[in-house]
Amino acid sequence: MRNTSTQVKYLRDYQAPLFLVDQTQLHFDIRDGETLVTATLELARSTPGTQEALTLDGDDLTLLSLVVDGQPWTDYEVGEGGLVVNGLPDRCQLTTQVRIHPEQNTALEGLYACGPYLVTQCEATGFRRITYFPDRPDVLSRYRVTIEADASRYPTLLSNGNCIESRSLDGGRHEAVWEDPHPKPCYLFALVAGAFEQLTGEYTTTSGRQVSLELYADQGQGQRLGFALESLIESMRWDEIHYGREYDLDRYLIVAAGAFNMGAMENKGLNIFNTSCLLADPDTATDAGYRVVRDVIAHEYFHNWTGNRITCRDWFQLSLKEGLTVFREQQFSETVNDPAVARVEQVRGLRAFQFPEDAGPMAHPVRPESYVEMNNFYTATVYEKGSEVIRMMRTLVGEAGFRRGMDVYFDRHDGQAVTIEDFVAAIEAGSGADLSAFRIWYAQAGTPLVQVRDQWDASTGTYRLTLNQQLAATRGQPDKKPAPIPLSVALFDQSGGRVSSPAQSELRQTDDGVIVLDRPNAQVQWTGLAERPVLSVLRGFSAPVRLHFEQPDADLALLMRAEDDAFARWEAGQRLIHAAFADVLKGDDARGKARLSAFCQAVAATDPEAPIVGEWLDIPSTIEFTDGLERVDVDAVLVADNVVRRTVAEGLREQLEAWYLAAETERPYRFDAQQAHRRRRRAACLQLMAQVDADKAVALASDLLATADNLTDRMAALAAVNDLDRPERAQLFQAFADRWADEALAMDKWFQLQAVSAVQGLPAGIAELAQRPDYDRGVPNRVRALFGAFGQRHFAGLHRGNGEGYRLLADEVLTMDALNPQVASRLVRPLTQLTRIEGERARLMRTELERIAAKQDLSADVREIVSAAL
Ligand code: PHE
Ligand code: ZN
Repeated sequence: MRNTSTQVKYLRDYQAPLFLVDQTQLHFDIRDGETLVTATLELARSTPGTQEALTLDGDDLTLLSLVVDGQPWTDYEVGEGGLVVNGLPDRCQLTTQVRIHPEQNTALEGLYACGPYLVTQCEATGFRRITYFPDRPDVLSRYRVTIEADASRYPTLLSNGNCIESRSLDGGRHEAVWEDPHPKPCYLFALVAGAFEQLTGEYTTTSGRQVSLELYADQGQGQRLGFALESLIESMRWDEIHYGREYDLDRYLIVAAGAFNMGAMENKGLNIFNTSCLLADPDTATDAGYRVVRDVIAHEYFHNWTGNRITCRDWFQLSLKEGLTVFREQQFSETVNDPAVARVEQVRGLRAFQFPEDAGPMAHPVRPESYVEMNNFYTATVYEKGSEVIRMMRTLVGEAGFRRGMDVYFDRHDGQAVTIEDFVAAIEAGSGADLSAFRIWYAQAGTPLVQVRDQWDASTGTYRLTLNQQLAATRGQPDKKPAPIPLSVALFDQSGGRVSSPAQSELRQTDDGVIVLDRPNAQVQWTGLAERPVLSVLRGFSAPVRLHFEQPDADLALLMRAEDDAFARWEAGQRLIHAAFADVLKGDDARGKARLSAFCQAVAATDPEAPIVGEWLDIPSTIEFTDGLERVDVDAVLVADNVVRRTVAEGLREQLEAWYLAAETERPYRFDAQQAHRRRRRAACLQLMAQVDADKAVALASDLLATADNLTDRMAALAAVNDLDRPERAQLFQAFADRWADEALAMDKWFQLQAVSAVQGLPAGIAELAQRPDYDRGVPNRVRALFGAFGQRHFAGLHRGNGEGYRLLADEVLTMDALNPQVASRLVRPLTQLTRIEGERARLMRTELERIAAKQDLSADVREIVSAAL
C-alpha cells in the first residue's frame, strides 16, 4: 500500500497529542522474508477523564493482535493509514503485534534490507511502517528494544542507547536488549542487524565521561572509516568549546548503508549514514568527498543537542533543527577549513539550489504553512536558507548575545519538542534584542532583491547610497512586507585602503557597523571624503538576497585585489563574470569581453597559492548563470555561456599551463587544505585548457589519469576530456571503469561525469548507461549519479530543443516512482522550472509533466511537486 493521498496538512491545525507514551517496548523477531514487531506502549491521556479514541499511525502493517492491559481488545478499527482504538481508560498498556516485510521495502523508509543487512529510516514518518504508534515528533517516549535474529547472518544487533543484555537462543539465534535513557520522538528510533567490520575509538568529554565510538561498515570497508572517526572526535570537541555541549551517552554508533535516501540520519546514539558521507580513502573519495564526510559527521553529531535533546513540536518546525544544525555545521566548517573557501562554497550552493527553488513553483517559507508529503520539504530552503536566517540573527544580536541566547535555548527547552518561535524568543531573552520584525524571514517565501544606486558629489566630498528592497509575490503570498536585511558595507579608497569614516543613515547600524535595511527605501551617506570611494556591499554575504548594483569594472577589479573580506573579494570577480554573461546574452560581446579581461587581469595578478584562485577559476555553471533571469532562452544562454568560458580560457592562456605544472602535490595523497587547493587549481586549469588547447589538455589528462594516486586527480583528468568529441575520451573512461569497476563510490563519480557530458549522445548515451548491469535502481546513489546529475547539471542535455531530454528524465521518474517515491520526487524537480523557460520547450516540458501526472497510483511525493508546477 503506497501513499497516494493528496490531503493537505496545515500548520494552523496543530493540536497537542491526546495520548502520551511514557514507555515503549519493542520486540523484533527477524525471520527470513518477514519480521514480527511487538510493541507495548504505556499510554496516558493528556487530559484524564476525557473519552476520545486513540489514533495510532500505521502504514503497510498487518495487524496480528491487539491487547490492552493483558486482555484481548476488540473495540478498534483498522483504516487507511492507521488504527483507531475506542474506550480506553486514562492509563493503560496497549500491545500490538504486526508483520512487516523489510526485504520487499524498496521505498527505504521504515525497516528495510540494505544488501545483507537490515536498517531503519524513520524520519519523517517511517516509524509507522514498523509499528502502530503516534508518529509525531511531540510524543516523546523511553524505549526498550529487544532484537532477535539468526546469529550467523546477523551477528551484530544494534539500537539506540545502551546494550543491557545479549544472549544466545535455541536454533542458532540470539538476541540483544537495548535501552535508551533519553525520551525521544519515534523518528529518532533506529535498529541495525547485520555482519559488519568495525572501527572503534575513545573519547573523554570535558566533564570526564568516557564514550566509546564505534563505526560499522561492510566487510572489507573498515579501513575507510578512519577519517570519519577523526572527524567525529573533532566535532565532539568543537561543540564543547563553542557551545558548551557534551555528549550524553556511553556509546556513539555510526553505521554505513549503501542504500540510503538521504545523506545521513541523526538517530539517537545510532547514526545511520549513506556510505558516500562516511567512507573515505584516496581511491574512492575526492577532496570534496572528504569534506562532505567531515561536515556530515559534524552535522549529525551536532543534532544530538539541536534536534535530539531539543526536538520539533511538529514537522512545520523542521528548520528549528535543520537550519540551526546546518548553521552550526557551517561554523564548524569555517574553523576547520579555510574560512573564505567555506563561505564561498556555502553561497554557491545556496544560489545554485535554494534561489531557484525560491523562484519556482515549490517556493515555500523556511517555516512552511502546509504540505502534502513531508519528505518533499527537506529542502534547500528549510536547510540552507534556514541557516542563513540564523546567521543574520547572530549578526543582528552580536556574537556574544547569540551565544547567551543559545544558552537560554538549551536551558529552557532541554527535553522538549518546541517551535521556531520558542527559539527566537530564547535568542531575544539571552541577547536582550527585539526580533519582532525579524520573524518575517521565517514566514515569507522568495529571495528579496536589494537595489543599490550610488552618487558621488565631488564638490562636498559626499558619497550617497539609495537602497531599495523588493520581494516578488509567490504562490499563496501575493503581498510581501519588507524584512530587516543586514547589509555589511565598507568603503575603499582608489589605492585599495579602507576608508574609516562612519556611515550616516536613518537606518539602524549594529555594533559591528552592519546597516539594517528594514524598509522599502532608505539612504546612507558618507561625508568629508577626499575622493570617490569604492563600495563593497553584502560583505560575507550578510543576507540571502540578490543584489543589483551597477559598478564600474575598475571598481570590481579593485575589490578583487584589495578586499579583506574573502567572500566579497571572490564575489567581485563573480559580478564581473555575471555582468559579462548578461552583456553577451543581449548581444554586446565587446562589452562582455572587456569585463572578462578585467577579471582575467585581476586573477593573473593574484598569488596562485591563494585558495581564492581555485574558486575564481571554477567558472559559474550554466545553472548559476541563469539564476535571476526572468525568462530563459536556452539557445542564447548556451551561446553566451560558451563565449564566457572560452574568453576566460583565452585571457588566462599563459597562466593555465604554468599553474597546472606548478600545482604538483605531495605523494602519497593527503587530504589537507593546502594540498586540496592545489588539486583544485590544477583541475580548473585543465578544464579551461580544454577550451582553447584540446590537444594539450588531452595529453595532460591522459598522463594525469595514468599517474594519479587519488580519485580527485583522476576525476580532474576525466572531467577535462568529458566535453571533447575525441576518441581519447572513451578510452580514458574505459580505463577508469576497468580499474575501479568494483568500487561503488568511485563508479558513482564515473556515472556522474558522463551524465553531464556534452558529447555523451542523447538519449542513447544515457539510456545505454542506464542499461548497464551496475545501474542498480535499488541504490539511490547510483540513480542520483546518473539521472540526478543529468537533470540538475546537464543544462544543454535536459533542454534539448526536441524535448528528448525531458522525455528521458520523465521516463526515469515514472520507473522510480513505482520503487522509491522519495528519489523520484527529487529527480522530477528540474522539469518544474518551466515557468522560466521560453518557447516550444515550455510546451514540451509540460507534456512530460502531464504524462507523469496521468500515471495511475502516482505517489503523493511526485504528485505534490508535479501539481505545483502544472
Ligand atoms: N535529518 C537528516 C539530517 O539532516 C536528514 C534526513 C531526513 C535523513 C529525512 C533521512 C530522512 O541530518
Ligand atoms: Zn540535519
